[in-house]
Amino acid sequence: MSKRAKPAASSPFSFVLFGGTGDLALRKILPALHAAHCDGSLGPDGRILAVAHTPLDRNAYLRWADEHVRPHIATARSSDAQWEAFRARLDYLQLDASQPDAFAALREMRDSLQGTRIFYLATGPSLFVPICEGLAAAGLTDGARVVLEKPLGYDLASSNAINDAVGSIFAEDQIYRIDHYLGKEAVQNLFALRFGNSLFEPLWRREWVESIQITVAEQLGVEARGSFYDQTGTLRDMVQNHLLQLLSIIAMEPPQSMDADAVRGEKLRVLRSLKPLGAEDIRRNVVRGQYHAGAIDGLPVNGYLGEPGVRPGSTTETFVALKVEVENWRWAGVPFFLRTGKRLAGRVAEIVVNFRPVPHSALGAQPLRSGSNRLTIRLQPNESIRLNALAKQPGMGMNLRGVFLDLAFDQFFQQDRMEAYQRLLLDVIAGRLALFVRRDEQEAAWRWVAPILDAWRSPDAVPKPYAAGTWGPAAASALLARHETCWIEEEN
Ligand code: BG6
Repeated sequence: MSKRAKPAASSPFSFVLFGGTGDLALRKILPALHAAHCDGSLGPDGRILAVAHTPLDRNAYLRWADEHVRPHIATARSSDAQWEAFRARLDYLQLDASQPDAFAALREMRDSLQGTRIFYLATGPSLFVPICEGLAAAGLTDGARVVLEKPLGYDLASSNAINDAVGSIFAEDQIYRIDHYLGKEAVQNLFALRFGNSLFEPLWRREWVESIQITVAEQLGVEARGSFYDQTGTLRDMVQNHLLQLLSIIAMEPPQSMDADAVRGEKLRVLRSLKPLGAEDIRRNVVRGQYHAGAIDGLPVNGYLGEPGVRPGSTTETFVALKVEVENWRWAGVPFFLRTGKRLAGRVAEIVVNFRPVPHSALGAQPLRSGSNRLTIRLQPNESIRLNALAKQPGMGMNLRGVFLDLAFDQFFQQDRMEAYQRLLLDVIAGRLALFVRRDEQEAAWRWVAPILDAWRSPDAVPKPYAAGTWGPAAASALLARHETCWIEEEN
């Protein structure tokens, strides 16, 4: 059972879930709504209408949910009574969203769509525009909210085309672009760490920070998403959104408040300050990798080219490491090293802030070492903050050793964590936009990655191989070695 304080229940809403039988619906969205239901945060008048192409009636959909959704619900929450009560909120509508006429069926249900109308588009991006047009033709968009899943487009032009079309129907403050990293508890904590404490802020700048690393490493491969992933690659799947969002939160100026536009405006300023990459920067400072066969936790795994759905000879990347610079007063000259990939040696997401060594050492050469002082903010798999410092080793002489102060959040706060999707869905229901990506942020991120995408179109831009179960291609280590540093890979 949840140990969290009881949240306020939401006002009435109708949550219309397009892609209602899809993978995201069954693994993330419906389990998150179920968790919110169990917490008492959905209120008695919240209804969920799943919409999909599959011919099912309500009863058949409920049986589908028993079979496919329930296994994704944490055991602690899966009491029969709770599940039954959650099922009572569910309804189903068969609709082919690619057919404009099909929306008549939704129009007929208009009176039953009570309260705030939320349209969640958990479909491929090619259906975003037809769905929004269908909703507009059915007269359902006034005062409604629309939630767009990633990937929102494939590059700047395609994302602009979608945003233009959706934006001609919905106002920007009706549009919720999801980046699920923004809903993670640990990412929320970055705001708390930076803007709730006076301790770090004076040091959070070029005078004291030597470099910053952001790593999001996964052990999983492309799983059942081979054909999607092969069209996408790591730069679009992870860097353009999750990693640049993390970077913008780490680097942003303190916002005036946590108001949506105050926060998003500051993140935007960072994204617009990213130093544009020229051809030579890309060659030197961007590493693109693809995994070969190897082993994860001692078990052999396929290489990327052996994954189902991947084209023979594909040059899609499964790993990216790169150096980014933020050209503003606070960060000029401080490298931000980003890396992310599939089938790496561990599952970890963390941010390492390396502080500069002392300018003069009264204690001998040792304290001048880079990396002696660093702050590691771990987001996954366990949430923690670790401050590394030097201390005197007991005994004669002044021998210094690295020590650390640790804050493990799960030990300090023995409370359930709220899943990212649950937080974000409750925000949509409550009309809070701060954790959703504004159009201009998204454009700035696409604009920045565009030269890399262009450079990688060249036939000789092939990814560097790495064995599954390692930390990526050697070139990623060489990139940091050229800056006289290395990736921090610590056991926690
Ligand atoms: C998704 C990507 O956005 O994020 C996936 O499409 C990736 O490829 C996932 O696996 C990682 O999310 P998390 O929350 O597991 O770190």
